[in-house]
Amino acid sequence: AGHPKLYVFPTAAALQSDLYTYVLQAQADAFARHNIFKVAVSGGSLPAYLASHELLNSRDIRWDKWEIFFADERAVPLDHPDSNYGLLKKKLLDKIPIERGTPVVVPIDVDKLDDTQELADAYEQALVKSFAAKDSVKLPMFDLILLGCGNDGHTCSLFPGHPLLREDVAWVGAIDDAPKSPPRRITLSLMVLQHALKVAFVAAGASKHEVMKRIFDEHPDVQGGQVLPSALVNQRAGDKVSWFCDEDAAGGVAFP
Ligand code: 6PG
Repeated sequence: AGHPKLYVFPTAAALQSDLYTYVLQAQADAFARHNIFKVAVSGGSLPAYLASHELLNSRDIRWDKWEIFFADERAVPLDHPDSNYGLLKKKLLDKIPIERGTPVVVPIDVDKLDDTQELADAYEQALVKSFAAKDSVKLPMFDLILLGCGNDGHTCSLFPGHPLLREDVAWVGAIDDAPKSPPRRITLSLMVLQHALKVAFVAAGASKHEVMKRIFDEHPDVQGGQVLPSALVNQRAGDKVSWFCDEDAAGGVAFP
């Protein structure tokens, strides 16, 4: 599958401009396939990095043709401080000038918050509706999935050593014991990440340096015998993956 690409910028601000160019290319690739741009976004710092002045104001970004899903989401109401929907709204959606168009955003079904499995199943149904019937397509093919990487190597809400990493049926998994608060979440499964046309990680800051070394260096992926979830994405999706990092996170990091 080839190697992922690793782009390292002097500062976090500098990576935003290349991230914008990359997103624009992903949008063009999507329009060559269909008249829509299907994107999944994570929480954490990702929405803020995505929402550069350049991207928000570009005439080339066709917000009216974006369909945005959540790569992972917390089992909380949409107006809760922990909600990734709320975060995206605040950091990105509310900043899109009205004349630039409005994306379709697919949030979780808040009637299902009491049971994360039901919440995950309902989100999977929303994907089925968008990507065609589950028996006609084995997996949804996102045009672009935008991810963050935790200091422990997690991505989406796929945590190191968690049984959900072995999920091979569900498109969306439920988790009640996330080691990062809040514990109750849903997440795209690894095979959905693997099946996307493009996957981009954004990782910045010195706190990520150790895990970046573990993900990319000589003994790449092993943490107590377990392959880190972010490294699994690298392995499975190969050259479909691009990393946008700053020097603090990825200075001196490279494939062996
Ligand atoms: C979540 C996020 C999570 C995040 C990473 C990195 O909802 O918890 O989607 O996967 O992307 O924890 O977060 P930072 O970018 O803030 O370091």
